Amino acid sequence: MTERSVYLDYAATTPADQRVVDAMLPYLTEHYGNANSMYRLGRDASRALEDARERVARAIGAARPDEVIFTSCGTESDNTAIIGLATAAGRTSGHIIVSAFEHHAVLEPAWRLGKQGFEVTELPPRPDGTVHPDDLAAALRDDTVLVSVMHGNNEIGTVQPIAELATLAHERGALLHTDAAQTLGKIDFDVAALGVDAASFSGHKIYAPKGTGALYLKGGTRMTPYLIGGGQESKRRSGTQNVAGAVAFATALELMDAERPAEGPRLAALRDRLVDGLLGRIEYAQLNAADAPVRLPHIANFVIPGVEGEAMLLHLDAAGIAVSTGSACSSGSLKPSHVLLSIGCPVEFAHGSLRVSLGRYTTEADVDYLLETLVPVVDRLRQMNPLYEKMVAGLAGAAD
Ligand SMILES: Cc1ncc(COP(=O)(O)O)c(C=O)c1O
Repeated sequence: MTERSVYLDYAATTPADQRVVDAMLPYLTEHYGNANSMYRLGRDASRALEDARERVARAIGAARPDEVIFTSCGTESDNTAIIGLATAAGRTSGHIIVSAFEHHAVLEPAWRLGKQGFEVTELPPRPDGTVHPDDLAAALRDDTVLVSVMHGNNEIGTVQPIAELATLAHERGALLHTDAAQTLGKIDFDVAALGVDAASFSGHKIYAPKGTGALYLKGGTRMTPYLIGGGQESKRRSGTQNVAGAVAFATALELMDAERPAEGPRLAALRDRLVDGLLGRIEYAQLNAADAPVRLPHIANFVIPGVEGEAMLLHLDAAGIAVSTGSACSSGSLKPSHVLLSIGCPVEFAHGSLRVSLGRYTTEADVDYLLETLVPVVDRLRQMNPLYEKMVAGLAGAAD
């Protein structure tokens, strides 16, 4: 067993930054009041909550602090936006467009609405991993009420032309929601510049703790609340607010924004080192969505023909490396990633996908260690695969 531990799965989650933890702790211990109580402890908590809201609103370019709703996670923000916006004002039918490579936190509520009277179009991205504005224009209808396209894809890291898509949606009278769980803090994010009506965020992707999130909802936009009860968050999200979590989220976001001018290029250089190193050393490996016009600095996704993603992951884990594969093991069946299939990746190759995502504590040595470890792992797995020669012959033929 190895002692070395290299974390390369920052798109799955990040460690909480110590500065974030330091900022939030007093709101768990000393200032623990319920932000809705009228006595001093409550007023202190409420002040901290509203201060956090203002800081988040400022960071994302919102017009007003009350456009920010604190939630428990990105999934809650997505569910609230999809269901709450589609069913606003008692609506029970209409047309919804979601991109086919959304996170399941968007797809599942859309599919549920599809069983309840709404019509859902899943818009495929192009092979470069981008939802093309012409394709959205063709899919929009007079009865389209909501369009949801993620800002940055969590598996392949491609960035979508949200401002253009929002303009098209608005021209046809539809709202535009974007899932920005992977982009907030990582690249410029400004709700006014993007022109979105709603946006979802997740705290644990930006070095705040798990169980924190936020939803941007443009002022004046009607939305049926998803969580109902005590009417907190201006009646849009009931439940006693997680004040410490809100403080953590605001602090984490400010740190991301402050450090991005140096951190963005650093991560992009590490990503390029990884991509060049992996493609140069592993025969037939490919970078997914290699032609994307804009990609996130911290995510790279590869297909490595002839190996199963899970086997690769377990061998890397044994060497102390944490990475991710596109295929998810659910109820015993190995399903290839819907994201890779949506960009035209053949099923047999989608099974051999590897997502590497970099972050605040990733070093060149970490990337080099992954490469050194991966090359012999892939060799070994390919030698054990009786179909490998055939797969590669097909590839060589396709290249001719
Ligand atoms: C694009 C995207 N949306 C939504 C989520 C869900 O966020 P959370 O884990 O905070 O519920 C994730 C997390 O993996 C994500 O990557």
